[in-house]
Amino acid sequence: MCGIVGYVGKRNSQNILIEGLKKLEYRGYDSAGVAVYTTNGLKVSKAKGRLANLESKLGDAPLDGTIGIGHTRWATHGKPSDVNSHPHTDNSQKFSVVHNGIIENYIALKEELIAKGHVFVSETDTEVISHLIASLYDGDIVKAVQAAVQRMTGAFALGVLTEYEPDKLVAVRLQSPLIIGVGEGENFIGSDIPAILEYTRNVYILNDGEMALLTRDGVELMTLEGNFISRELFHVDWDIVTAEKAGFDHFMLKEIHEQPKAYRDTMGVRLDASGRKVVLTEVGMTPEQIRSIRNVHIVACGTAYHAGLVGKTVIEKLARIPVENDVASEYRYRSPIITPETLVIVVSQSGETADTLAALREAKRCGARVLAITNVVGSSVAREADDVIVTWAGPEIAVASTKAYTSQLIAFYLLGLYLAQTLGTQDEAAIAEVIAELKELPEKVEAILAQSETIKEIAEQIATHDNLFFIGRGVDYAVVLEGSLKLKEISYIHSEAYAAGELKHGTLALIEEGIPVIALATQHDLFEKTVSNIKEVKARGAHVFGIHEAGNEEMAKVVDQVFAVPATHPLLTPALSVIPLQLLSYYASLARGNDVDKPRNLAKSVTVE
Ligand code: F6R
Repeated sequence: MCGIVGYVGKRNSQNILIEGLKKLEYRGYDSAGVAVYTTNGLKVSKAKGRLANLESKLGDAPLDGTIGIGHTRWATHGKPSDVNSHPHTDNSQKFSVVHNGIIENYIALKEELIAKGHVFVSETDTEVISHLIASLYDGDIVKAVQAAVQRMTGAFALGVLTEYEPDKLVAVRLQSPLIIGVGEGENFIGSDIPAILEYTRNVYILNDGEMALLTRDGVELMTLEGNFISRELFHVDWDIVTAEKAGFDHFMLKEIHEQPKAYRDTMGVRLDASGRKVVLTEVGMTPEQIRSIRNVHIVACGTAYHAGLVGKTVIEKLARIPVENDVASEYRYRSPIITPETLVIVVSQSGETADTLAALREAKRCGARVLAITNVVGSSVAREADDVIVTWAGPEIAVASTKAYTSQLIAFYLLGLYLAQTLGTQDEAAIAEVIAELKELPEKVEAILAQSETIKEIAEQIATHDNLFFIGRGVDYAVVLEGSLKLKEISYIHSEAYAAGELKHGTLALIEEGIPVIALATQHDLFEKTVSNIKEVKARGAHVFGIHEAGNEEMAKVVDQVFAVPATHPLLTPALSVIPLQLLSYYASLARGNDVDKPRNLAKSVTVE
């Protein structure tokens, strides 16, 4: 995800910015840039690709000055390129902005500014901010930023400089992290602690809705309305490795905890303010083209394939279009029946998986329209697909996919609703009902995460076994497949996921005294059936952990231990029920002393067939 660094002091800011950005490289990025106030005014240097490209540009044309802002960009609005990199300036080049997050109403703001004569050069939402601040400036940069922020909706962290007040660095936080580092005769901003740890361990952690004015001599904290705030300094005693993980023990745990934000970011601008409609501007299909879709193929690998299984239920239930799922490594060798009326959806976190890419090319060769769901803007899959829905989960570093999977689920919910509203297969009230429940998911995930200790205890019991089973019906079956993969991948415990009704056709022979069975039963219409299957394994000695929806008192009567997830719309339960399964794998792996973030034999991106 993007990184922010800012400096005001007496040293050469260019070097401090570059060193700070290097500390944020682990987050992933595809371009970088700095703005520095020099004797020739505010100057910007930016480069696509690695920081080394920016360093070489700065080597040829250094920016000398003692106040500056820097940024590593991970593309969201607009492809990775020099021009889309931050910092962004206004037409006068007197204001410069770095930004993390998303400005949801940037199109409306951009149109308004264009009407006033502003000329935009990039495809980004960020450029709107520099123009907006410039248009509101009346001699006081703090007031101009406050006024601009009042006009913006979304989640963002900002660093702002203006040539008119060259001793001031302004920082803003609204649902996107930002910290202030306090030194002697120098002060810093950073999107993460590692960016500034080399220079100071004294920080102010900004809360949502707060901003700061930094000069060489001090830091003033205030609300976005301008009320001053006094706060104790926080002394960071983490080492750099702990700081990269934001204090979590592993990237996987950090990424599990980032899911509420990933849900919010992926839904973001795509939910119309009315709450009754999905807006997918990135899907270029006309209503006629959507109406001509006869069938859908969802093709992916591993965890992304499992997201596609949920996608099938969502699209079939909401849009009433038949869907087939394929493992990408099988797809092109089975001569799939693809016609121009087939919509092929490829799902890939990295956008570089060789099998998925090959499936995409096969689908295009056969004349299908290809829609990609990917986490990486500018990836091969994103470049070659006709339409791309980007999941805004941010870079996933742990090999085991968590936040990318759940963001893929969100993308499928949005797509299913979008198809349904275009085809008229659901009425407006039904769509509004799902949207209302979607919006509540992030808080419900937070509620599950708050009960991690309960899952940890269950995981520690499971970690002593070498075999176990997962069972579920309907969409719960798709989720247990993912739960089982996650457990195998990082704990190395053998597990099988079964459609609960299928056990008695052979697998029941493996159920013996004490074997753990994790039963997922969130679907009301299938609950009684799943209970029958639970009784089958209980009768043969299994120890059953049941995961069910809050409010259902029946599960506790039939299983040995229970865990409840908050109630939601039946189609949305996977976005909640998978969270305890992710935590279960994490804690089981931990209990077994494994390398959680880098499981044996596996790579994050599989670019070979
Ligand atoms: C499991 C996991 C893998 C990936 C698979 C596809 O946790 O991460 O199963 O889901 O290798 O990768 P992408 O989504 O990058 O195509």
